[in-house]
Amino acid sequence: MVKVDISGALGFVTENEINALDTQKPLEKLKTLYENGWMGLPASFNPELANVIKRFRDGIKNQSDVLVVLGIGGSYLGARAAIEYIKSPNYNLLKKDTPDIYFAGNNASGEYLNQIIELIGDRDFSVNVISKSGSTIETAIALRFFKAMLLQRYGEAGLKDRLYVTSDIGSPLIKMAEREGYPFLEMPPEVGGRYSFLTVVGLLPCAVAGIDIDELMAGAKEEYENGLEDACLYAKARQALYKKGKNIEMLASFEPAFRYTGEWWKQLFGESEGKEGIGIFPSYADYTADLHSMGQLIQEGERNLQETFVSFSEPRQNPKVPGGDIHDDKISAIAGFDMHKINMSASEAVKRAHIDGGVPVLELCVPGLSAKSFGALVYFFMRSCAVSALISGVNPFGQPGVEAYKKNLFAILGL
Ligand code: PA5
Repeated sequence: MVKVDISGALGFVTENEINALDTQKPLEKLKTLYENGWMGLPASFNPELANVIKRFRDGIKNQSDVLVVLGIGGSYLGARAAIEYIKSPNYNLLKKDTPDIYFAGNNASGEYLNQIIELIGDRDFSVNVISKSGSTIETAIALRFFKAMLLQRYGEAGLKDRLYVTSDIGSPLIKMAEREGYPFLEMPPEVGGRYSFLTVVGLLPCAVAGIDIDELMAGAKEEYENGLEDACLYAKARQALYKKGKNIEMLASFEPAFRYTGEWWKQLFGESEGKEGIGIFPSYADYTADLHSMGQLIQEGERNLQETFVSFSEPRQNPKVPGGDIHDDKISAIAGFDMHKINMSASEAVKRAHIDGGVPVLELCVPGLSAKSFGALVYFFMRSCAVSALISGVNPFGQPGVEAYKKNLFAILGL
């Protein structure tokens, strides 16, 4: 489903240089070690698991106007990305029969927490706390705020119906859920945080938002079965460009609904590849908006950038530009053009300009902004990321560097 076009990179790196990179060994390693983990998730998804998630979804939906999802990194970015991509970046403002969804526990700001509490107001709400380790400080602090609020509003019995826990078997959160009687979902222990979207971690918040999780997983499965070649091509092309000094990758899309997928992608690639003194720096841009802020730097700054465009061949909505002279300028001649044509033209114009300016452009094309294409893209990126990291010689699955700030924070707080 995800098609890769490397033609925009070939002025910077040759096909031979790309194909010289070995994906065979990385793939063998991944198959041996992770087919029973994140790699096999699309194949192992089954109706029983889907039904458990849907039962939890109904429990939340039937009693709440708001779901607060507490989590950070891989425990929230995928769900937030999916809701923006599949539903809308303005999901909470839409007229709908599903709960509003707020994300918290992903920062240490008191102002942010208070604003979410204010936004909930006197509406009925439930909480889904998601943390693989069950001990991440930002999420653990937010849980204290929302647990106290649930208790105050609904009492002990209500709290038991409204606090949903998602965590690893045996984690402090699961122990709390067992001890205090909250509904809980266990994460597959062999699946790491940033590779966990296609588990209960991402699927429960998505289901609550009214996303068809069967369709989403069908897209992931299609990619699992047919997408290996394209995933490897993307992995090899970006690594070949890295060898040419293109050490920053700017993922860009011309659909604002993709923005949080860009945030999810940044975590996936940044934490998987950036270690042992190497790694492509992942960055995301929203086009055309960011062309009016970053465009100058991209066009003429230091030539260490590679870009990856994600585009959608079938628009979800495609209004036509109305007629009528508003300004006395040549833009009036655009009346009647459809917005998809204009957006695709913008993409082509930017691609040509950036290549001329010394920025190689890889392109990923998917059919449209749907649950199916989101599932496919997520799987495509996870597989290409793991292959890419292994090509560069690092282990994609640890994040030892993240501990440094945590250690300091605990010391500063005297914990
Ligand atoms: O990829 C990872 O494992 C991390 O980035 C985690 O997703 C993040 O640190 C959150 O951890 P946890 O789910 O344990 O709260």
